[in-house]
Amino acid sequence: MNDTPAAQFSKRIFSGIQPSGGLTLGNYLGALKRFVAAQDDGVETIYCLVDLHAITVWQDPAKLRHATREAAAGFLAAGIDPARSILFNQSQVSAHAELAWIFNCVARMGWLRRMTQFKDKAGKHAEEASVGLFAYPNLMAADILVYHATHVPVGEDQKQHLELARDIAIKFNHDFGTEFFPVVAPVIEGAATRVMSLRDGTKKMSKSDPSDQSRINLTDDADAIAQKIRKARTDPEPLPEALDGLEGRAEARNLVNIYAALADISADDVIAQFAGQGFGAFKPALAELAVDKLAPINAEMRRLMRDPAEIDRILGEGAARADAIARPILARTHEIVGLIRSRTP
Ligand code: AMP
Ligand code: TRP
Repeated sequence: MNDTPAAQFSKRIFSGIQPSGGLTLGNYLGALKRFVAAQDDGVETIYCLVDLHAITVWQDPAKLRHATREAAAGFLAAGIDPARSILFNQSQVSAHAELAWIFNCVARMGWLRRMTQFKDKAGKHAEEASVGLFAYPNLMAADILVYHATHVPVGEDQKQHLELARDIAIKFNHDFGTEFFPVVAPVIEGAATRVMSLRDGTKKMSKSDPSDQSRINLTDDADAIAQKIRKARTDPEPLPEALDGLEGRAEARNLVNIYAALADISADDVIAQFAGQGFGAFKPALAELAVDKLAPINAEMRRLMRDPAEIDRILGEGAARADAIARPILARTHEIVGLIRSRTP
């Protein structure tokens, strides 16, 4: 069998979100909304709820199950169509974990030690962190490469992990004298590749922030969304005449970016529209826009969550389709590495 030269990989999109707690506006604007756009462009799209990544830190089993179904409901409510995209949870396709093991043997300790997410998550307690948290980027590389995916839409915070996935593909290809794995292209674009906390413009909006006021959750209803935007931290200045006037005003810049991403316009357009106006005028406009865009998703999520068996069915069906793509790629990887496969199924 001839390994496909890199230039011949056709476009296939893969991305993942951890089902560890509810999805936030950051996940929606940085990832999910763009997943839907890629699907609607007619590209082949594979989306994964990365439950094996979630358990790199402690997860209560019942909560994890609930959060996984809720994240799936979020994807569906936001516009992911299981007839056009493959949607599944990672643990149902064992090829991810199997390829990750091989990548554990390709990636170097020094590469992983440089990962800023590990340093942030493990903090001062690196010795107590799980081995899984350390090896997390290898599993992420396997998620992508087990499909020979070529494009990976993510938020800004995942850039370093994607560079590692490239390094793994390059080293594997080099070590085994092949061009089997494509070199992955990160797709980090849009007005909100890094949505910041509503309480602190220097911190990323995150599902793990202890303050619920810091984020908008996809499960928040219209009142909660409007209230959080009204209370969002800002400064007393009006919005400037040009975008560079937001320099040093992280909270103001964040709200402008959120507005732009929700309205599908540029941050410059937002400034053109609101120049000279204070937050007394801008916040209600943003709250109205956010409610307008997010409340229907929220309502649809609630509806879908009334039928968890149907969600499980969709994930199972997606997993079967994903498995059909991943199995032959894993089998060929085993051959390349020199692992014997002689068992008849
Ligand atoms: P996670 O929730 O860490 O699994 O992230 C899933 C996806 O959402 C990744 O593509 C992240 O880059 C993206 N994401 C998470 N938080 C944010 C944020 N605050 N702003 C923009 N994108 C984000
Ligand atoms: N690490 C990503 C995050 O926390 C989630 C993820 C896991 C992912 N596997 C992936 C994203 C593969 C893109 C492709 O955001």
